[in-house]
Amino acid sequence: MQDYNRELLQFIEQSPTAWHAADTVAKTLEKAGYTRLEEQDDWSLHAPGKYYVTRSGSAVIALNLPEKPENFLIMAAHDDAPAFRVKCGGEEKNLGLYTRLSVEKYGGMLCSTWLDRPLSVAGRVAVRTKNGVELRLVNIDRDLLLIPNLAIHMDRSANEEKSYNVNVDMLPLMGGAGMEKGLNALLAETLGVAEEDIVSRELNLYPRTPGCVWGAENEFVSAPRLDDLQCVFGCMQGFLQVEQPACATVLCVFDNEEVGSGTRQGAASTFLDDVLCRAWEALGNTNAQYRAAVSRSFMVSADNAHAVHPNRPEFADRNERPALNAGVVIKYNAAMNYTTDGYSAAVFQEICRRAEVPVQSYSNRPDLRGGGTLGHISLSQVAVPTLDIGLAQLAMHSCYETAGAKDTSHLVAAARAFYACAYRPAKQGFTL
Ligand code: CO
Repeated sequence: MQDYNRELLQFIEQSPTAWHAADTVAKTLEKAGYTRLEEQDDWSLHAPGKYYVTRSGSAVIALNLPEKPENFLIMAAHDDAPAFRVKCGGEEKNLGLYTRLSVEKYGGMLCSTWLDRPLSVAGRVAVRTKNGVELRLVNIDRDLLLIPNLAIHMDRSANEEKSYNVNVDMLPLMGGAGMEKGLNALLAETLGVAEEDIVSRELNLYPRTPGCVWGAENEFVSAPRLDDLQCVFGCMQGFLQVEQPACATVLCVFDNEEVGSGTRQGAASTFLDDVLCRAWEALGNTNAQYRAAVSRSFMVSADNAHAVHPNRPEFADRNERPALNAGVVIKYNAAMNYTTDGYSAAVFQEICRRAEVPVQSYSNRPDLRGGGTLGHISLSQVAVPTLDIGLAQLAMHSCYETAGAKDTSHLVAAARAFYACAYRPAKQGFTL
């Protein structure tokens, strides 16, 4: 089994924000011979052919069309992660001693994990040019900020009870009161533009600690944003490895999963339907033929799952307790917050069985509420049989998460087998 963790950690390091992740994916697709399409242009496509589209700079859909495609095999994952977003107001002076950045929450993170570690700022900046405005990615690639904890002597109950108020406890320290260069000056310097040409900006904090593989026998991989960049990476590897698929294969990377997916680049948007429909029509099909192709299609929504915790096993279900390094997790939920049903689970399990990829199952402890996923949100736009999978991980939404080192390869192998299969629905089931 090939070990992909070095590449995974490199991918994560190149992707401090969703904009960077989408850019990293787009560059990887370009290198693999995919042609970029713009949504605002007319499309003329050829089959066989390889194409990709981006939306808002943070979502990507790639298509690999065989000569006579009849349906779509789709894998979807998300490239955003919980983080602190820098507010427009930016810096605030404090006590005549410090300069802090004012921030708000993007998504539901474990606040305590962001304390006492070097952080920096990345995102995108709108820069005025001669003819208009250009959006540019930016990453201030150095240790720039830190959110200091309160000493135990000042908060004796810190180890018993602790709550974090984003407006009080989570403001990162950036410099002294006399700090000469503000954040905009640093951004301008990084981008090589004049500070007054910065029109607007969207910036996240990100942790600087690099990812690593660790453990007595290198069993574990830890890094920021494993949820869900580990799945983006695994799906993309599998997608690229199937160069001549039997079905039209689709790689789908959405943004804004952590804040409900309801943006034009999120899973609730028309992005997937727009791209698939336009591609199908550009190949000379009618809209009715597109709808028929969708009904013959299949989707896998890939988003990391909770492994049973070594110190706190009581929070896992009694029977379904995913283990690290034990294979791809299939997620079930009776309320259908996960899309998996008997049909979609059978499709995926058969594919994994043939490819000798281990799978395991996950349900929330029945008296605890779990998280949602992309799958059931995307279904309202493109209604295909879908299942929810993920890789088992610890400390979800910590800014430094942990997963099984072998599982990265398990997902790549599962994705490759999925994209390579010749799935067709049949009257009483399906054929592969
Ligand atoms: Co996720």
